[in-house]
Amino acid sequence: MTAPTAPDSAVSTHLVVTGARGQVGRELLRLAPAARGYGRAELDITDPSAVRAVLAPGDVVLNCAAYTAVDRAETEIEAAYVGNETGPAVLAAACADLGARLIHLSTDYVFPGTHDRPYDTTDPTGPATVYGKSKLAGEQALLARCPDAHVVRTAWVYAGRGGDFVATMLRLERERDTVDVVDDQLGSPTYAADLAAALLELAGRPDAPRVLHATNAGQASWFELARAVFAGVGADQGRVRPCDSSAHPRPARRPAYSVLSPRSWNEAGLTPLRDWRTALEDALVRVSD
Ligand SMILES: NC(=O)c1ccc[n+]([C@@H]2O[C@H](COP(=O)([O-])OP(=O)(O)OC[C@H]3O[C@@H](n4cnc5c(N)ncnc54)[C@H](OP(=O)(O)O)[C@@H]3O)[C@@H](O)[C@H]2O)c1
Repeated sequence: MTAPTAPDSAVSTHLVVTGARGQVGRELLRLAPAARGYGRAELDITDPSAVRAVLAPGDVVLNCAAYTAVDRAETEIEAAYVGNETGPAVLAAACADLGARLIHLSTDYVFPGTHDRPYDTTDPTGPATVYGKSKLAGEQALLARCPDAHVVRTAWVYAGRGGDFVATMLRLERERDTVDVVDDQLGSPTYAADLAAALLELAGRPDAPRVLHATNAGQASWFELARAVFAGVGADQGRVRPCDSSAHPRPARRPAYSVLSPRSWNEAGLTPLRDWRTALEDALVRVSD
């Protein structure tokens, strides 16, 4: 995949984006401006009558709404399940009844993170965090109510804005001489714009498998990603220093290894996502504009 492209207009007029003010939702609406986008204030996906009021037969719903506060979820358990299980269940029931399609985002955190090879869609799940458990519950609730829905697991998403990891590294590069970043967690850094383009392609492919993985290709540790950010803006990579997770204890224990295999996506004939380093270069150009 090169630069993300817009879908054809026939598909985009039936596209509905929920969670439209989040980082993936915003990219979807940028690439598909004819889509109907609803932020949380306009549509709470846990409200069945509100959901049914905005959907119509033939719609393709791209659900980007979720409870995404991974650390807070460890104590806000009910809120995590409401956002990540009840919400998808409500959407799925409405889509099944109305004859709308549903594409739902899930996460690498549904896996235990103990592999030393990429997780495939056929691998057993086993989340270690409340966030991961609530997202897995959402996948199951969704597929039970809407068997034609697609679950797309992604990982380590950034746009380079707000408080995401890439944006944080750009800020720390300006503010600090050195930054210590964990080097013992491996994952699949994914540019939100590339993910959005991939979801829009899937919107035109109802025949694709129910569960798919979509991330930029390759793998990295957070340390390697941080170094690539520094290098990308012409800063000395040596200012980023590796450390262990134990140096930054967090309420939710992150998987040590959560790289997602692109097999399901690529074998479906969907456009392979490009390497994460190339995608990051584009993201850095865009945020500097
Ligand atoms: N970001 C990542 O690294 C990552 C990795 C793997 C998977 N994912 C998945 O990818 C999807 C999109 O993530 P993202 O990074 O775009 O997340 P995000 O930036 O946190 O956006 C999520 C949006 O959903 C909204 N929302 C929460 N509860 C809602 C509800 N009940 N009804 C309607 N909207 C609601 C949030 O609004 P408020 O802010 O007002 O709560 C927020 O605008 C999620 O399913 C997430 O689990 C993300």
